[in-house]
Amino acid sequence: GKGEYDHYMEKEIHSQPTALSNTIEGRIEDGTVAFDDLEAGAFADVDSVQFVACGTSYHAAMYGGQLLRTAGIPAEVLRASEYDTAAGPVDENTLVVAVTQSGETADTLDAVRTAAGRGARTLAVTNVVGSTAAREADDAIYIRAGPEVGVAATKTYSSQAVTLALLTQRLADDVPDATPADDREAMLNALADLPRHVETVLETSRARALAREFMDSESYFFIGNGFGHSVALEGALKFKEITYEHAEGFASGQLKHGPLALVTSASPIFAVYTGGDDEKTKTNAIEAQSRGAPIVAVGPDDHPLVDVADAHLWVPETHPVWAGLLANVQLQLLSYYAAKLLDRPIDKPRNLAKSVTVE
Ligand code: M6R
Repeated sequence: GKGEYDHYMEKEIHSQPTALSNTIEGRIEDGTVAFDDLEAGAFADVDSVQFVACGTSYHAAMYGGQLLRTAGIPAEVLRASEYDTAAGPVDENTLVVAVTQSGETADTLDAVRTAAGRGARTLAVTNVVGSTAAREADDAIYIRAGPEVGVAATKTYSSQAVTLALLTQRLADDVPDATPADDREAMLNALADLPRHVETVLETSRARALAREFMDSESYFFIGNGFGHSVALEGALKFKEITYEHAEGFASGQLKHGPLALVTSASPIFAVYTGGDDEKTKTNAIEAQSRGAPIVAVGPDDHPLVDVADAHLWVPETHPVWAGLLANVQLQLLSYYAAKLLDRPIDKPRNLAKSVTVE
């Protein structure tokens, strides 16, 4: 049941410290990563990766794609429904990774079957043991987030992104010519602190007050680059899904290529940054601010955006990979409180189902 919480979504947001601890548990030893039956060398034949996913899982897959490319491993991130025409060629050295909470999304299963038919090796990254994706793919890795009841995916995004970051470490060690990150130790050490940092965000968040402050806005925009791009897209998806308000997410640099025409004083911009390479987010946020839009900086202290923003959703200082996940927790809370103020049926938004089993 929901216990002390008003909605499953609220409960699931608050269960992220535990979910993340479970995701990580037992998978890191002496600075390397192993998954049960996928031990060292399991991916020695892989030379490139394609992620296929939908919705929130697609946003988590963007994390995986960026991390793999940084490690020198060619990686595409594809919307599963577009796999047929969007995917590059595959062979037996291509690992096609289906990222799917339910393991039952028809678009994603179809992409996996197409990829397998073209000769690729397949891997399911899923939350549901024994799901169709887990059974059909050559291998499966479980994100271990625990059951998710709310239609809006929350804790599973966090656990997917962490699982994919761990998978990147395994691939970087296995794939010939890959270059493991030189800050891996710092990154894995910071990962151990992630559950505690999520707890801190949950305890200190000002998202409820901001949801109220911006309640009468016309549109809600979310921007970010790098990992922040994934979080911006995810923030906007969650916001529209449960509030029914107009929300859009963009890569920071894309705002000026059209969407800026929609920017007014009634369109707050949530600028997500991670402390990595976020220069574009700052310059484009300032551009929107000069058109009257209120800017909310979403990320750690000690960033030039904080000084110019009209408000700040703060997250603790950490490695840039994890800062995005903390920023996302702030945006989950923002969506949740905005939907609550609007009295929406948060756990079951209209027209949507938890798993989408039609194409
Ligand atoms: O079960 P899956 O991860 O394959 O589901 C994919 C999407 O349908 C899902 O993430 C959807 O976008 C969520 N309702 C978003 O909150």
